[in-house]
Amino acid sequence: MSISIPQLPKGTRDFYPEAERIQNYIFDTWRSTAESFAYEEYEGPMFEHLELYTGKSGEEIVSQLYNFKDKGDREIALRPEMTPTLARLVIQKARELKKPFKWFSMPRLFRYEKAQKGRLREFFQLNMDIIGTESIYAEADLMAAIATMLRKFGLKDGEFAIGVSSRKLLATYLEEIGAPNPALVYPVLDRRLKIGPEAFAKALADAGLSEDQVKKLDDFMSCKSIDEVKAKVHSENATAALQEIEDLFATLTAAGYGECVNLDLSIVRGLAYYTGIVFEVFDKGKSMRAIAGGGRYDSLTEKLGGERIPGVGFGMGDVVLADLLAEHKLLPSPKQSVDFYIASFTNDMKKVFETAQAFRSASTGKPFSVAHPLAAMKMGKQLDQANYQGAKIVVYVDGSKAGASEFEYKDMRTGEMFVGNMDAIVERL
Ligand code: HAM
Repeated sequence: MSISIPQLPKGTRDFYPEAERIQNYIFDTWRSTAESFAYEEYEGPMFEHLELYTGKSGEEIVSQLYNFKDKGDREIALRPEMTPTLARLVIQKARELKKPFKWFSMPRLFRYEKAQKGRLREFFQLNMDIIGTESIYAEADLMAAIATMLRKFGLKDGEFAIGVSSRKLLATYLEEIGAPNPALVYPVLDRRLKIGPEAFAKALADAGLSEDQVKKLDDFMSCKSIDEVKAKVHSENATAALQEIEDLFATLTAAGYGECVNLDLSIVRGLAYYTGIVFEVFDKGKSMRAIAGGGRYDSLTEKLGGERIPGVGFGMGDVVLADLLAEHKLLPSPKQSVDFYIASFTNDMKKVFETAQAFRSASTGKPFSVAHPLAAMKMGKQLDQANYQGAKIVVYVDGSKAGASEFEYKDMRTGEMFVGNMDAIVERL
């Protein structure tokens, strides 16, 4: 009987060290940018009670849940997104938490997606959220952080764009044209560009809209400037919603991010809980899936049974981001690199271990990375290993030219040989 080799589950990834190095580069850049904007990190469990998602997150995400009954007969779901967990954390400590506050997290998420480019069944997502303020400057802060982060990854303005829309504005427009139940209409609007004009018109007709209303909506969602929208809306609420977007853009422009944002009323977002500004980040030309998406959710805590606490935030996945950075050749080399390789002509392993330990603790900052042979071997083989591990300097513990407390050493970047003490070697690095 032949035994089949275990297979990687569809839509998941293995991270061999080379892939993990790239992954850590993404995580480090996410974390350092979030911290530079003074967001604090939090975490939650990887699974939650199923009901945290059903009815609140929106149809699409609920249909993609990985859920099961645990041994205590509880309905459980692996988390498909972080926002409901965050809302739960906020509700639990609603009184104690000093608002507003800014938090970030980098959860591993699970969605039973159809396998396609940019979408996996297990992925990571940076979440940044601001809780406890309705101010539009919270949106400004989040968008400034996104632009800063993408620039830090090496993307130029113009290579990405944050498209901004407003559910408040859409809702007032739906009201103005007398469209029925927005809750039924949003999921259709969200699919507008994906399904094409005919299917779009049909789905809206099914939701109860007349031909004239469909045309008006289509025109409205194609508006490219605030002035164009101004000419179409009249109510006080719509004017207020537009004013908010104008303030947001003016603030971002003043801070040097004007080129990174644009009005895009075709953005609706699939999730059910958004109430105000919604936004998505795309590569230039929108050739890939969204890099990030988010928006304002002022009544999610209330929907989950808590008091009403406003929130706004976004999620940025690692998959599309890495694809985009790879396309622009912006990912770092995945090769290993160590500071020192400690070698011995006589295979004096005691001396090798002792010297390696001394070099590890010689740094006043981040500890040096130090490699060495793990078995007796010829010098040629040791140098091969040093090369393979990307050692910058090879230190010989028993070179004949070295005096007391000195070493012979080789700078692998230039091929030059030297003799010197530890301070000189560290200096050379
Ligand atoms: P979302 O639009 O569902 O929003 O996801 C945000 C981002 O996560 C997407 O733009 C994409 O980069 C990434 N993403 C989503 N699904 C997948 C997948 N199957 N594979 C790879 N990447 C994926 C949310 O999740 C909201 N909870 C974000 C949020 C935070 N809103 C407010 N705060």
